[in-house]
Amino acid sequence: MSYKLPGPKTLGVLERGIPLFRNGLRYEQDRQQAEQRGHRSGSQIVISRAKGDFIWDMDDNRFIDFQNGWATNPVGNAHPEVIEAVHKAHQQYGFHYDHPLRYELAEKLLPTMPHPSLNRFNYEVSGTEAAESAIHLALTHTKRRYIIVFSSAFHGESLAGKVLSGFQTRDTYMEAWNGGVIRAPYPYSEQIPAGMSREQYVDYCLWYLEHQIPNSVASKKNIAGVIVEPGLAEGGNWIPSVEFLQGIRRICDKHDWLMIADEVLTGLGRTGKMWAVEHYQVKPDILVVGKNLSGGIEPCAGIAARDDILGANNDFASGSTFAGTPAGCAAGLKTLELYERYNLVENAAYLGRVASNFMTPWEEKYEIVSQVRSNGLLIGVNFRSPDPNMDDWWFSRSVRSRMLANGVWAISDRENTIRLYPALNMNESVLREGLQIMEEAIDYVNRHGSIEGNSPAWPTGVAGF
Ligand SMILES: Cc1ncc(COP(=O)(O)O)c(C=O)c1O
Repeated sequence: MSYKLPGPKTLGVLERGIPLFRNGLRYEQDRQQAEQRGHRSGSQIVISRAKGDFIWDMDDNRFIDFQNGWATNPVGNAHPEVIEAVHKAHQQYGFHYDHPLRYELAEKLLPTMPHPSLNRFNYEVSGTEAAESAIHLALTHTKRRYIIVFSSAFHGESLAGKVLSGFQTRDTYMEAWNGGVIRAPYPYSEQIPAGMSREQYVDYCLWYLEHQIPNSVASKKNIAGVIVEPGLAEGGNWIPSVEFLQGIRRICDKHDWLMIADEVLTGLGRTGKMWAVEHYQVKPDILVVGKNLSGGIEPCAGIAARDDILGANNDFASGSTFAGTPAGCAAGLKTLELYERYNLVENAAYLGRVASNFMTPWEEKYEIVSQVRSNGLLIGVNFRSPDPNMDDWWFSRSVRSRMLANGVWAISDRENTIRLYPALNMNESVLREGLQIMEEAIDYVNRHGSIEGNSPAWPTGVAGF
């Protein structure tokens, strides 16, 4: 089975988007750029329906879903019980700000927190707003001006989200908005400065945080805290070491800074623990929640914080109109019920082990695979080019394209990484089938060269498959 993508119906829809959307333009740009370089365009799909572990495109091609609505469908696509709960809430309340479900969800969610001290909750609509409100809470609580963020972190796409996020492209034209943000390096295992071991690099990053920033960037008394992802999600599913996370906690205690864990993507079971910080035995002062709480159906996000931080803070402002909608809270409540009923966090840990056992040998087996990493179902594979004239990312892109043509949908956007976010309740045989197809794609590209790039093995004009 191999799909020719995009199929005619999908292409028809994509072309309608060309004059309308940025995405439409991206498709067109991708196509033109690819043609100029003499190879096929990157594949894009438009979904016609979604159910459980699968999605279908407009041409009724079926795909195993490792993209997972950008990691928001912990119970699989369009779970009927979540839909029913959301529908009921719509019928009963329409939209109003005060309704009992916002109390019920906070009562159900807070006991799952990694530490009982995180006993107050504040609703937001999106992960972006939740991350922003965590920052505002930290600034107003400490009455300080600066926040430390990490390189390649992602905290959202609002103005503040952009300056908090560590991607270079988000800095451009944003310079005047960066005032209160201090950047610190996040220790990726693939970007270790020459001559340093992995452990030394972690030590360096912690030294920078502990000494360099307070000595030469801003007084420690004017720094409110540190926001960190305990698993660099959009930055490529990088898994930090225990030393790094525990080091941040130690430094925050020493300098009297707040530690904010952004668990929008890693939280609610993604890593095989309810909260990723549990792997590190660190206790954040503020925890940011999003994505999975929606049950894949209706947005719901927020922050949990200590009593003394969130209990009475008159300077902290929050509460957009749609924060904690009845439908969003209903989705969260039903989702947490499903977590309990099906032991979904344990299941995610089990599926994570299955995936890791399946994928780890790829590092040895395939020259183009530089690293396989995972924490539960937070999974990333990095690729390298065996050809010095070709960028690494052509290889991740080629593998991802072949996976797609063979019926598996995963993420590979700007990096040389393919990211996978299987649902926490994915059928094990579907997971294995998807990984098998991924391995076949890796093997193919490993043997034939990039099917997207101008690899010698694929001369101009040759369609890869
Ligand atoms: C760690 C993290 N924080 C915040 C966000 C922003 O969440 P949202 O897209 O729901 O606004 C994301 C989104 O990917 C994320 O991964």
